[in-house]
Amino acid sequence: MCGIVAYVGPKDAAPILLEGLQRLEYRGYDSAGVAVVAAKALKIRKVKGRVADLAAAVPARFKGTLGIGHTRWATHGVPSDINAHPHPSSDERIAIVHNGIIENADALRQRLEADGVTFVSETDSEVLSHLIARTAKETESLEEAVRRALKLVVGTYGIAVIDAERPGEVVVARNGSPIVLGIGEKEMFAASDVAALVRYTRQVVHLEDGELAVLRADGFSTFTSDARETAKEPFTVDWDTGHYDTGGYEHYLLKEISEQPDTVGRTLRGRIDDRFHIAHLGGLNMDARESRSFRRVKIIGCGSAYYSGQIGAQLIEELARIPADAEPASEFRYRSPVVEADTLYIAISQSGETYDTLAAVQELKRKGGRVLGIVNTVGSAIARECDGGVYLHAGPEVSVASTKAFTSTSAAFALLALHLGRVRDLSPADGRRICDGLRRLPEQIKEMLTQEEHIRELAMRYAKDAAGMMFVGRVRGYPVAREGAQKLKEISYVHAEAYPASELKHGPLALIGPEMPTVAIVPDDELLDKNLTTLGEIRARSGRILMVGHRTADQADDCIVVPKNETELDPILLTIPLQLFAYHAAVALGRDVDKPRNLAKSVTVE
Ligand code: G6P
Repeated sequence: MCGIVAYVGPKDAAPILLEGLQRLEYRGYDSAGVAVVAAKALKIRKVKGRVADLAAAVPARFKGTLGIGHTRWATHGVPSDINAHPHPSSDERIAIVHNGIIENADALRQRLEADGVTFVSETDSEVLSHLIARTAKETESLEEAVRRALKLVVGTYGIAVIDAERPGEVVVARNGSPIVLGIGEKEMFAASDVAALVRYTRQVVHLEDGELAVLRADGFSTFTSDARETAKEPFTVDWDTGHYDTGGYEHYLLKEISEQPDTVGRTLRGRIDDRFHIAHLGGLNMDARESRSFRRVKIIGCGSAYYSGQIGAQLIEELARIPADAEPASEFRYRSPVVEADTLYIAISQSGETYDTLAAVQELKRKGGRVLGIVNTVGSAIARECDGGVYLHAGPEVSVASTKAFTSTSAAFALLALHLGRVRDLSPADGRRICDGLRRLPEQIKEMLTQEEHIRELAMRYAKDAAGMMFVGRVRGYPVAREGAQKLKEISYVHAEAYPASELKHGPLALIGPEMPTVAIVPDDELLDKNLTTLGEIRARSGRILMVGHRTADQADDCIVVPKNETELDPILLTIPLQLFAYHAAVALGRDVDKPRNLAKSVTVE
């Protein structure tokens, strides 16, 4: 989604802002801009396009030691130079950048227009610069002007504001859209994502919803919306710039796929107990008695996080024998869910910022639900909102399509299912079997990755010219099929549909023919024969079949043979070839692999 960067200190702001914006590029955007203050005057440059286009448009003499920058993902108004942020006030005194959505923008706009303000853009955000400019004339401080203006606003925001009349400070505020402060040596930074800060500092402070901060070169102060000062403890982020480089790979996506032996290893590290064959998950904040008390598990997340939640539900049902299911967080929050005391709720999010997931967690908390988070980003909004949880430790995921976070989430679910199982009826022998299986995962992922060339060749043959592709799987294989279809469609734009293999003959079989190949997830489990029968049915309709499983089969035209683990854990490994398949299809089709069209890495608006 949109990205924000702000700087105040002794250095020239523009290069720092541009570098920060570049670090946010991965989140997806369509325009970018920067504003600095020098000699009590605002200078603004903004363009439709990429940060490189903005950098080319910023003149060499764009001096100023205070500034704000923005990458925009259009919600109100088309991507254009004018609609790009920062937005100045009419008197060119105030400039703002904004993430989020101002819901009462139309009403505020009408009121401001009636008072003689002329709007130049179609954005909802522009109301903020005019409102703040108006209140700034009547207030002692910029922070008070921002506070008063925000009282009139309904909606979500992360904002950064500068005032040409006060060239020593930046004011930032948050409500539903993340803002992180970065503490430097006699300089301060702010951003919507730590990615923009790590080159300069690892000392960060997260703002809470409703908080506002004033940044000056020598420090910062934070306040509640009613002007009470708050005390904030900085914490040190352990991600550095190396995490945000492609590390010699052609794309972040391939780098992140290749990192999975390590990232899954990091999710598991220190959490497998060989003495009792249990999982140590200190962050759950639950003792054994509490862990036993739940009668149901409900998992929520969006996109790939939701599909990994389906793998999680299956693991929890199998290992802990607790009824479990997953649902898109976006749907969950809108259907006025019945929240029960004996249900354990689990929210999944790589970024920890996805608005729909955050709003669902807040709704659950309001109704007294117990919520755990399986989250990658330490200190993120969803992590802070949950009662406890499991961090993935997978490092930042940069490519829009999720890969390493998906497998790490699935591995974290295996640990959680082991924990919930072992405080119930899962035997020590089965506990040991799962512990041993988990420990084998990183090596087996590495082994799987050696088949990249074979998979690339299959992607060229199957996906490159396909009118569409069908992905099918049964029970454990079904979420794998869904994630495989999701990967293919989001990065290669090849139409892909996922179906439970058992449902094929209830409708989608009508689509099968030579131009609609099928990827079939066929693990060696108790459903193998049923799956092979389904392949026979597809074959009989002249459908081509690429089978992903643990053996070759005559019913399939081609096979990818995946290393076998314990049946419950196999879905994690079966996912890997589908990631490579989608990646190579996207490369062959010349797509923008890391930044697919119309998508954003984290969707921080409704
Ligand atoms: C966006 C991304 C997806 C991701 C989803 C959830 O839609 O494009 O790749 O799966 O958000 O993101 P989260 O950060 O909550 O896991």
